[in-house]
Amino acid sequence: MTDQLEMIDIHAHILPGIDDGARNWEETGHLLEAAWAQGVRHIIATPHFSRKTDMEQLRQLKAGVRELAHRKGLELEISLGQELRYFEELPLYLEQGRALTLAESRYALVEFKPGDGFQTIRRAVRELVQSGFIPVLAHAERYLCLRETGRTEELVQSGACLQVNAESLTGGLFDRTAAWCLKEIQKGRIHFAASDMHRPDTRPPRLEEAFKKLSKKRICPDAATIFGKNQRYILENKVL
Ligand SMILES: [Fe+2]
Repeated sequence: MTDQLEMIDIHAHILPGIDDGARNWEETGHLLEAAWAQGVRHIIATPHFSRKTDMEQLRQLKAGVRELAHRKGLELEISLGQELRYFEELPLYLEQGRALTLAESRYALVEFKPGDGFQTIRRAVRELVQSGFIPVLAHAERYLCLRETGRTEELVQSGACLQVNAESLTGGLFDRTAAWCLKEIQKGRIHFAASDMHRPDTRPPRLEEAFKKLSKKRICPDAATIFGKNQRYILENKVL
């Protein structure tokens, strides 16, 4: 575990049996243990949004995960959110509590279809900001349309925050995605690194590995900023 920082993970599919994340409580337990061992102290559970989701069930599962962590002796705090595939009525759903922001803050974790164009993302950011939310673009490195010059800058200026998956930072010297992430971090356009963990066998958390890799580089903002410090703004519902 990293001694330097208490990490906060804002993107995690740890609720059991609700989406393509943990299949059962056992897998949830393994993910919690792995995250704890890597230095995570607070996790926002972010199951995929569905119009059919029973919010009460999500809250009960969240409470169950918290209990499980404590039974295992892990002093992990667990909050609730959702990963929201953008659709036109999303701002309304958020206003009405039919879709969840991150830990009851103004920050909403939003994803897009891989093929969505920049105009779609830009419009979504504007709609959400106009409705009083702060969009956090989930795994921003997946949207190739953002790699054109000036685009991440424009989104950030419009009020969006960008999240990258820790795993994407672990690529080698010639990995284009890792290189893009690093460049954007150095320009201050990546606000959060998160695990996007799903299952212990196929998509475990790789936060520690990414944190250590980034820490070796003398960059500004430093690794601690995007692995924990910035996340406090979400938990305190303050504008970053
Ligand atoms: Fe996800």
